[in-house]
Amino acid sequence: MAAELSMVVPSTGSPVVVELGPGTGSVTDAIAARLPAGGRHLAVEVDIDLVTHLRRTRPRVETLYGDASNLVVLLDSVGVDRVDAVVCALPWSLIGATKQREILDQIAGVIVPGGAVSALAYPHAQWLPGARGFRGALGGMFDEVVRGPVVWRNAPPAVVYTCRRSASRALSR
Ligand SMILES: C[S@@+](CC[C@H](N)C(=O)[O-])C[C@H]1O[C@@H](n2cnc3c(N)ncnc32)[C@H](O)[C@@H]1O
Repeated sequence: MAAELSMVVPSTGSPVVVELGPGTGSVTDAIAARLPAGGRHLAVEVDIDLVTHLRRTRPRVETLYGDASNLVVLLDSVGVDRVDAVVCALPWSLIGATKQREILDQIAGVIVPGGAVSALAYPHAQWLPGARGFRGALGGMFDEVVRGPVVWRNAPPAVVYTCRRSASRALSR
């Protein structure tokens, strides 16, 4: 699953990549393995213990402590206002519709034209209101939303949405 999520990371050039919800770092490592030497990897995590863990174990990753709904401000604090790819391992089905929209607005505010966003989702949770709303929110935010096949080897089985062409730079700032 980590490999599928990180496919949006450009493998050449000097891309800026943002990871939302790095947790203990399994997706972080897949992104780092794909990122070219000139790239920049920023990770936004809301759990301070995980932030401490990531900073200690993955010093090359710029781990930012905060909420993904404050993405623009967090990135601004390290001099970043445009990113080439966003990898999301957030628990979308547990995040309310308003906050989902806030996070997606923040992503739309920084993703470059031609950039890509990947997001993890769980088929077993697809009937939860949060999951159904999230799929609709992606469709409203991006011109192209592709749902990948179920990755059965993941526990629990999961899918990756890959999104391109932000329909609007929705953020008002
Ligand atoms: C499903 S876990 C990620 C799993 C991760 N790939 C790993 O290897 O551990 C989701 C992560 O998102 C973080 N998270 C949840 N809501 C968040 C938010 N609003 N902003 C930033 N991080 C958030 C959680 O603290 C958690 O670490």
